[in-house]
Amino acid sequence: MNLADRLKSDPFLKRLSELLGEEEVYVVGGYPRDLFLGKRSPDIDIVVLEDIKKFIEPIKKLGPVEFRLSEFMTAKFAFPDGRILDVVRARRERYPRPAVLPEVEPAESIEEDLWRRDFSINAMAISLRKSNFGELIDPASGLEDLRRGTIRVLKEGSFRDDPTRAYRAIRYSLRFDFSYDPLTEREFDLARKYAGLLTFPRIENELRRGSTEERRAEFFHEVEARGLFPWEHRKASIEELRRLDKLLGERKEGDWVLFFALYLPESAGAREFVQNLPLERSEKKVLMDFLELREEKIETDPGEFHLKQGKRAEEALLVLAACRPGLRDFLLDYLRRKRNASPRIRPAELMEMGFSGREIGEILKKIEVLRLRGEIHTEEEERAFIRSLLNRESGS
Ligand code: CTP
Repeated sequence: MNLADRLKSDPFLKRLSELLGEEEVYVVGGYPRDLFLGKRSPDIDIVVLEDIKKFIEPIKKLGPVEFRLSEFMTAKFAFPDGRILDVVRARRERYPRPAVLPEVEPAESIEEDLWRRDFSINAMAISLRKSNFGELIDPASGLEDLRRGTIRVLKEGSFRDDPTRAYRAIRYSLRFDFSYDPLTEREFDLARKYAGLLTFPRIENELRRGSTEERRAEFFHEVEARGLFPWEHRKASIEELRRLDKLLGERKEGDWVLFFALYLPESAGAREFVQNLPLERSEKKVLMDFLELREEKIETDPGEFHLKQGKRAEEALLVLAACRPGLRDFLLDYLRRKRNASPRIRPAELMEMGFSGREIGEILKKIEVLRLRGEIHTEEEERAFIRSLLNRESGS
């Protein structure tokens, strides 16, 4: 099947091309790359050579759509079937300093836009224009690199301009099992040198994206090995990372913070380091909970252990299980028991029995501990326990 036929087999792109007629419009980046690899990505990046406002109305004809015109030169369309269409005006970029966002201005041609990109395999465009539908524009020989299995930057200094590309390179090399060409390999030295100038949210964004990859344990390991955690940190072993990956199961972006926890410094300054990170409260809490747990002597009685946990995040226990394999079974067993440990008896019933609010809290906690220890299993056993308390109090 030629490229035009392959594109047309996607009814969405076929219809888009029909709606846009003779306009100069290209599908670029991940979509063409994945098409050649035999995959179809739900996200489509479109590049146009004129003001994007001109394309909004025709694209809306594709169907019900949520539409957002973000900063200048970008529009996002989300369709109910999960398809995301990003429309961007062709641009050229200038990096005033290493590791800062570029100054951008419209480019005159699609080739110019492709040359500003990260890797040759992401610098291919396919025309959607009716008269040359399916034509491949590949100025940097991305197709050849795709066939050879090579990640190749488009110019020297690429990772100095934008060190996030180094994290991206690692992600692609692991995802596709590709190797780096010699120039790209040398670029990692620049990334190591300039990664410290990136803002934390930009690094976080890369770690988030890495956290959904199948080989995410290897991703974090390589990021660290290549000096791309530009702050004081501990080293996490590949075994710890793999154990955490397994413990978490389904891969989610939000898991990044748990992998990150394995790299928290072991020095006394770790808490302050976490406090100063620009993170959500819930993310900081997991990290702080983990730091506390890491220093604690762990009780191996689930009831006693439970009393110390308070409102600690369960994820922090999973991170601990990943770095202390000797505790893994105990911690997993605790979490399993905990899920079933809530007292069944209602507080209202205890109130009717004459207990005060404070007593009720204490009784429920005791029941929880007994359930965790496996000494109480049913609501009836809970009542028997409460009766035994009453009997003790009345001295009989
Ligand atoms: N891009 C770039 N430099 C970056 C980020 C993005 O050149 N630092 C370009 C690449 O051409 C990339 C495109 O923008 O293909 C879209 O970026 P993104 O959505 O992040 O990546 P995808 O290629 O869609 O890949 P993925 O499969 O990882 O989502």
